Amino acid sequence: MDSISIRGGVALQGVVRIQGSKNAALPVLAATLLTEGISHIANCPRIVDVYNMISLLESLGCEARFVADGLSINPCSIRCGAMPSDAVTGMRSSLCLLGALLGSCGEVVMEHPGGCVIGQRPINLHLDALKSMGVDFEEKDGRLVGRTDRLRGADINLAIASVGATENIILAAVAAQGRTMIMNAAREPEIEALCDYLRRCGADIEGDGTSRIIIHGGCRLSGADYSIPADRIVAGTYLFACIATGGNVFLKDAPCGQMRAVLLLAERMGSHIDLSDSGIYVQSRLRPVIPSSLTTAPYPGFPTDLQSAALAAMLRGDGSCIIEENIFENRFRVVEPFRQMGADIEFLSSTSVKVRGVPELEAADVSACELRGGAALIIGGLQAHGESRISGCSYIYRGYENICRDLRELGARITIV
Ligand code: EPU
Repeated sequence: MDSISIRGGVALQGVVRIQGSKNAALPVLAATLLTEGISHIANCPRIVDVYNMISLLESLGCEARFVADGLSINPCSIRCGAMPSDAVTGMRSSLCLLGALLGSCGEVVMEHPGGCVIGQRPINLHLDALKSMGVDFEEKDGRLVGRTDRLRGADINLAIASVGATENIILAAVAAQGRTMIMNAAREPEIEALCDYLRRCGADIEGDGTSRIIIHGGCRLSGADYSIPADRIVAGTYLFACIATGGNVFLKDAPCGQMRAVLLLAERMGSHIDLSDSGIYVQSRLRPVIPSSLTTAPYPGFPTDLQSAALAAMLRGDGSCIIEENIFENRFRVVEPFRQMGADIEFLSSTSVKVRGVPELEAADVSACELRGGAALIIGGLQAHGESRISGCSYIYRGYENICRDLRELGARITIV
């Protein structure tokens, strides 16, 4: 189950439906802690990170169950208390429970989420913002303990437009007394998804999608029906898989409006892109054109989560590209496995590489060590001659519902082994 075998060389063809977004679903699930009554969350992706979040919510007193068209959550008997430490440390995004629990119980005790494979990932911005809203934090036996008698609104100017910190502030602010203003807020679509859900529950929030968000706290929140938007990163992964193999694919339900920077890159790589109400049609060249540079940036810039997939699509292209990673310091762990496949990639610094296209890639046995890099290795295998085996695929299942099924539907020779 932990390995995938791929016989490369097939140009992807056909239609693939894009699942709901992981990074939109997780904070929305955490937000249910702040509500009274049942929420019905449609299009919730059935992925390992969502299952972990559900376990955490259950350990806090929520009832959750998948029904035919989504997930039903009832935060009927919320109690604060320690959460299962493996679920917290195994999933960085459990961090959004910080704001939600402080908002619902005034208390949180959780394992320190610590760094992870893609970088150190400090949480200073989360803690400083919540402190300014009246929370006291201390570390006890390696655990982070936060308490507040009364959350109060505050003006918070984020030094970095952090997605997670913006989410935590919003979650705490809807339960706080008074107004919170977040300046230099993250503008990612996942922030808008969280605010859309909270507004449906009765929250008073404006400005999401811009860098200044204003929340008037203290509204009573009911449960609500909400549908998770499609996953722009999964759509981008399949887009780059299509480009890498010279294929023609329709990405059904892909969120075109959230993918401008990604689609621009696809066009620079010689693909023809057609947008429709129901998705994105991609028609790619046999051998992609490699653009001279690519830089990751916060939304609406090119997303860090698709940097390794874009790199994978350039490996057999025509030309060379300097790729700069500006969000996380350790997102080039795919370079070594790609080199094993015969790729020509040179480190210019720890956060930038130069990739030069080679005519062919050879199959190799390689190992995934994180989610997005793992998906990029699959894109490598799809273009390589012979049979590649990718181990460590449990990382990939954290974010992709069924990447093998999806790619097989597009003609790829890919199986779980
Ligand atoms: N940062 C700090 N201090 C903080 C918080 C962040 O220095 O307190 C720094 C980080 O180290 C990083 C930068 O700020 O250099 C941006 O990090 P951000 O907080 O925006 O990222 P995140 O909230 O931890 C989310 C996604 C990531 C995605 C990033 C950037 C979720 C669950 N995770 O992480 O998704 O890469 O935003 O868009 O929403 C993934 O899905 O594979 C993934 C890693």
